[in-house]
Amino acid sequence: MSAQSTPIHIHPLEALKKNPFVLAPMAGITDHAFRSFMKKLDASVVVTELVSATGIEYKSQRTMALMSFDETQRPIGIQLFGEDPEIMARGAQVAEAQGADFVDVNFGCPVPKVVKKGAGSAMMKDLPLMEKVLSSMVKSVKIPVTIKIRTGWEQNARNAVDVCKLAHDVGITWVAIHGRTRAAGYSGHADWDFISEVKAKSKIPILGNGDILTPQKAVSRLKESGCDGVLIGRGALKNPLIFADALSLWKGEELRTDLKRNYAGIFKELNEAIRAHSSEHITNIQLKKFASWFSTGYEGSSAFRKSIFQLKNNDEVLSCALDFFGSIGDIEQADTSEDNFLMGGHG
Ligand SMILES: Cc1cc2nc3c(=O)[nH]c(=O)nc-3n(C[C@H](O)[C@H](O)[C@H](O)COP(=O)(O)O)c2cc1C
Repeated sequence: MSAQSTPIHIHPLEALKKNPFVLAPMAGITDHAFRSFMKKLDASVVVTELVSATGIEYKSQRTMALMSFDETQRPIGIQLFGEDPEIMARGAQVAEAQGADFVDVNFGCPVPKVVKKGAGSAMMKDLPLMEKVLSSMVKSVKIPVTIKIRTGWEQNARNAVDVCKLAHDVGITWVAIHGRTRAAGYSGHADWDFISEVKAKSKIPILGNGDILTPQKAVSRLKESGCDGVLIGRGALKNPLIFADALSLWKGEELRTDLKRNYAGIFKELNEAIRAHSSEHITNIQLKKFASWFSTGYEGSSAFRKSIFQLKNNDEVLSCALDFFGSIGDIEQADTSEDNFLMGGHG
């Protein structure tokens, strides 16, 4: 997006009414290429990975690159983290100038480097500061501001209801809740009973998040929790059709037939998106990562993973992946929902 052209914004809440299945931000994963790919496969709203508001102050090239997107990704949110109200407000203004449809604030990151400074999930322990940060951001931009939180810092300090009230009072547009405490990290299960309770007690729109690994679960979590939308993260890495299928199920329609469960074709599209936005070296890493995740639960996947990680050349990686995915056809993916999978991240 160039800063000169006037973007035609799509309001993220409006988008949820048509499609409540949102791609959860994942650092190193939901980059420009992956967001474009997921939008084609029916993800509703998408969000960048967390971007440092301080990095924006320094106009660091790496930071600015994290904020790049194109028109096909709308509605797109730029996620910021930081603890200083003024720096966060200026960061929000830069996100707005970049053409983002909304700014999301990360209050869920459990990573020590981030919480040590009082940012990420640490802000859930300091609601007066959270209030300052959010009100200065809301006052500084015209686009909506949303937040993403955990249920609380630890089990006996689960204050998501208070955070939602604060958010509502300062004019935040929605609260997305990853159903774990900061202390839990990625262990155990996301507590959807708690998410439902927060939804029932809150006036602000709520998006539930955590452990949605199948399209059926996406629809049942949405309906049972009463949430206004759900965020799906790791589930999209094991099953790239999760959004398309969840949307069809939610609408009561047949599953999308144009996809024809064509996993090789789908992987080819991802390959094109990655190559368009990444260096040879990064392409190599990303292709291998996604190929190995997408292969989860299919017969022969561990041998496939071993062989693909030995390949150096991107065309060889692609052709190995296409051979494997071409052989999947109608084979069912085994349920691996109880296996540990990517047990760490920034939210
Ligand atoms: C590798 C990885 C990176 C993540 N990065 C972010 C991030 O940048 N910002 C954020 O708010 N959450 C981040 N998260 C958290 C996810 O958005 C989500 O809350 C969490 O994975 C639980 O949802 P899931 O079970 O659907 O994956 C990350 C998670 C993972 C696994």
